[in-house]
Amino acid sequence: MTEHENKTAKPLVHLGITRPEELSALFADLRGRFDADCACAHDESSWKQFRDAWLGRKSGVLTQITDNWLKPATLELKRAVGAALNELRAHVEAKIEERRLTIESGAEESALARERVDLSLPGVMRPVGSHHLIRQVFQEIEDIFVSIGFSVVEGPEIETPYYNFEALNIPEFHPVRDDMDTFYLELPKSAKTPLLLRTHTSPMQIRTMEKQKPPVRVIVPGKVYRRDNPDATHSFAFHQIEGLAVDTDITFCDFTGTIEYFVKQFFGPSVKTRFRPSYFPFTEPSVEFDVSCPFCGGTGTAASGGTCSKCKGAAWIELFGAGMVDPAVYGFVNPAHGGGYDPKKVSGFAFGIGIDRLAMLKYGIDDIQVFFQNDVRFLRQFP
Ligand code: DAH
Repeated sequence: MTEHENKTAKPLVHLGITRPEELSALFADLRGRFDADCACAHDESSWKQFRDAWLGRKSGVLTQITDNWLKPATLELKRAVGAALNELRAHVEAKIEERRLTIESGAEESALARERVDLSLPGVMRPVGSHHLIRQVFQEIEDIFVSIGFSVVEGPEIETPYYNFEALNIPEFHPVRDDMDTFYLELPKSAKTPLLLRTHTSPMQIRTMEKQKPPVRVIVPGKVYRRDNPDATHSFAFHQIEGLAVDTDITFCDFTGTIEYFVKQFFGPSVKTRFRPSYFPFTEPSVEFDVSCPFCGGTGTAASGGTCSKCKGAAWIELFGAGMVDPAVYGFVNPAHGGGYDPKKVSGFAFGIGIDRLAMLKYGIDDIQVFFQNDVRFLRQFP
C-alpha cells in the first residue's frame, strides 16, 4: 500500500501526468492494489483496517485522490479524474461491503459449527441403579398379599418394650425374650420409657389394631434388629413381613388357605405346604409353615442323584412362623383407640415372614451377609 499511498499523496503533475489517457494505467494500478488488499481482510478487525485505509474520511486513499488528484487537477484532467475516481469508488465500496458479508457469514458459520448440537451423538450414560434384591422380594410378597385384599402399613423401627414385648403377651422375664436380645437406646434418666430397636415387625399388630376397628388385613414390611453374631444365616439387621387378619369369622381354614395361596404364588404352583406345631406367645395355636423343597421337587434327592443341598435331603424347607392370634393379645389393644376387639367376637391369624431367608432360598444365596455388603458384583445379578 505504501507505493500508492505515496502516489496519492502527490498531485498528478508531480507524477508527470498531464493527459487524460495517462490516467487509466494509474487507476488500473490502484485497483489492482485494492483487490490484493481486499483478499487479505480475513476477519472483522483486518477488514476494518482495510476499510479505513481506503474509505477513511481523513486519510483514506479515496479522500487523498479527491484532495490531491481531483481538486488541484487541470481543467483538462478534472473530468477524467472525476469519472475514474467515481468508478473506483463504486468498485471499492461494493467490494468492501461484499467482503464484510463474507466475513460475517463466515463468523456466523464458525459460531454455528462451534455451538451446534449434534443430536446423533450418544448421550452421557448415567448408570441407573436397580432395586436391592431384598426390596424386590418385599415387592413380590406385597403384590401377592395386596392382590387378595391386604393393605401395606409400616411402623417405627425404634419401639417401646411395651409394643415390642408386653402387648404381644411377652411379659418381662419370659424366656422368649432371650432369643430377642436387642439394642436399647441410651436415653436421659428423665425418659418416660426405655426404647429399643424392634426385634420383629409384630409390634405393628397392636399398633394397627389400636388405629382401626376390625376387619383388619394388613402386612407390615420392615427392618428388624437383634444382637445376633453375624454368620451365614445371622445378621444384626434383617427384614420381615408381618401379616395380620382379624375379623368376626376368621377360621384356621382361612389361615392355612391364605398361607398356601401365598406360598404357591411365591414358589410356584407345584409346591406343597405343611405346618407343624410351634410356640409363639402371641398366637394360639402356633405353627411353623414348611414348603416342599422347590429345588428337588420335594424328593430330597437332587437331579444329579445326590442329596438335595437346599433341603439337606429333608424334602421340606422350614419357612416361617404363624398362628391364630392369641385371644390375650386383643386384651392389650387399648379400647380407647381400637374398640371392637372382643376376643369372644373376633378371631384372626398372624404370620411373620423372614424376607432374607426367603430371598436366599428362592435365589440360591448361601450367605445372608451379601445383602448388607452392597458389593455391586452381587447387586448386578439382580437387575
Ligand atoms: N415375630 C416372630 C419372630 O420374629 C415371627 C412371628 C411368628 C410373627 C408367628 C407372627 C406369628 O405374627 O404369628 O420370631
